[in-house]
Amino acid sequence: MAVGAGETFLGLDIGTSSVKALLIDADQRTIADASVPLTLSRPQPLWSEQNADDWVAAVNAGVAALRKSAPDAFARLAGVGLSGQMHGATFLDAAGRPLRPAILWNDVRSFAECAEMEKRVPDLRRRAGNIAMPGFTAPKALWVATHEPNVFKATKLILLPKDYVRLKLTGEAVSEMSDAAGTLWLDVGKRRWDDELLAATGLTVANMPRLVEGSEISAYLSPEVAAAWGLPGKHIPVAGGAGDNAAAAVGVGATAPGAGFVSIGTSGVVFSVTDRFVSLPERTLHAFCHALPNRWHGMAVNLSAAAALTWIAELIGRGDDVGGCVADAEAFAKSAKAVETAPVFLPYLSGERTPHNDANATGLFAGLRAEHGAAALIYAVLEGVAFNFADGVDVLTEAGARPKATMLVGGGARSALWGQLIADATGLTIDLAAGAEAGAALGAARLAMLAAGAGDEATVCKRPPMQRQFVPDTARAALLAPRLRRYRALYPAEKGAR
Ligand code: XUL
Repeated sequence: MAVGAGETFLGLDIGTSSVKALLIDADQRTIADASVPLTLSRPQPLWSEQNADDWVAAVNAGVAALRKSAPDAFARLAGVGLSGQMHGATFLDAAGRPLRPAILWNDVRSFAECAEMEKRVPDLRRRAGNIAMPGFTAPKALWVATHEPNVFKATKLILLPKDYVRLKLTGEAVSEMSDAAGTLWLDVGKRRWDDELLAATGLTVANMPRLVEGSEISAYLSPEVAAAWGLPGKHIPVAGGAGDNAAAAVGVGATAPGAGFVSIGTSGVVFSVTDRFVSLPERTLHAFCHALPNRWHGMAVNLSAAAALTWIAELIGRGDDVGGCVADAEAFAKSAKAVETAPVFLPYLSGERTPHNDANATGLFAGLRAEHGAAALIYAVLEGVAFNFADGVDVLTEAGARPKATMLVGGGARSALWGQLIADATGLTIDLAAGAEAGAALGAARLAMLAAGAGDEATVCKRPPMQRQFVPDTARAALLAPRLRRYRALYPAEKGAR
């Protein structure tokens, strides 16, 4: 499809705390952006839910904001791309209506169902390429089948968050490989639904959406939505899009084997592109498809990255002064003696995936002394998260997927101390990209460009210019090494004492 001059592209990222809408032109200049907050409900310990229709309302509010600030550019919209929080399950009736709140990626109620799935399908790890983790979609479905049989019986379709939004925007049930890989129902190596994995949760392929690649057209905006967005009569393609991590990778140009990123969001991710399917389930490697054809990626995911910093800031009464907290930790870390004697922190505040797959893992400060003040605790939190990334990089390395060119993305990328600690703890040289926070929404907009035929991968998926580089510092790494050893000894000790 030929794209004319002046056409624009919309990236929509359905996050956990907000929906981000980004409108770019064909040169990828930002024309307008908007962020609409979302609320999260935790009705019981371990649960995490959202109303799927809140995502749609937030998308429409974001689009309204873009139209208001750039009406002419929005009127030239030529493609939409979707990105979203991965793994969440929406349970839909025959009319596509949600039967219960969506169960999200950070909901870990279904750990018993994970064991049950592995029992029902003895070669599950080989088939799915992944270990059954409560964050993934399939165990959530088994939980609903067990605890809410009426809801399960009425369920005709289970969609991931961004794919629910797609259903409402286009009327079609479609997913794409990168997000589908996180369901535990996909044969990740072959990029197709696996009947046996589906059967283990009482489902068939009829309960699943059709699959496309992220850079392909999935469907078109429905006439009603196009009219509601002020684009009556326009036939606007919606790209397959991507799960938020694969979308962020596309956004920073991590598309070739060996390219990767470290993301400090609510959760933390180390992501590395491969040209073949790479799997290491017993070490909780996330072995997923990339959003582009013929590529996969390995991913190590920890559940408390920026979330741990927010937690300590609140705990010490600093509210949302996260920047001030980081500045205090930076001053603290100038003294090697202070670092040497600082407490060591385990960041498993919400349980952990990589490397332990343990929903019951807990956070911990070890080595507290009366002389430790708030700055020591903040430093320990930043360092503990960096150590968690080091564990993740080790898992990727063991799988043969250590990233060779690594970018730093996510909100936590604003802290220079954190970037340096991660470089020192992981041994990776890490580039901070300009505008790295736009990540997933930009990736989604880029996939919209590819689907609409507005350029090829080499021109559309460029690496952004580098702002600064964090190179591992030998002296600092030597200072951290005994602390990393102590960190690694804490989890087994705590688990053994539970
Ligand atoms: C990845 C994961 C998270 C969510 C966050 O496996 O669970 O990164 O995608 O949105």
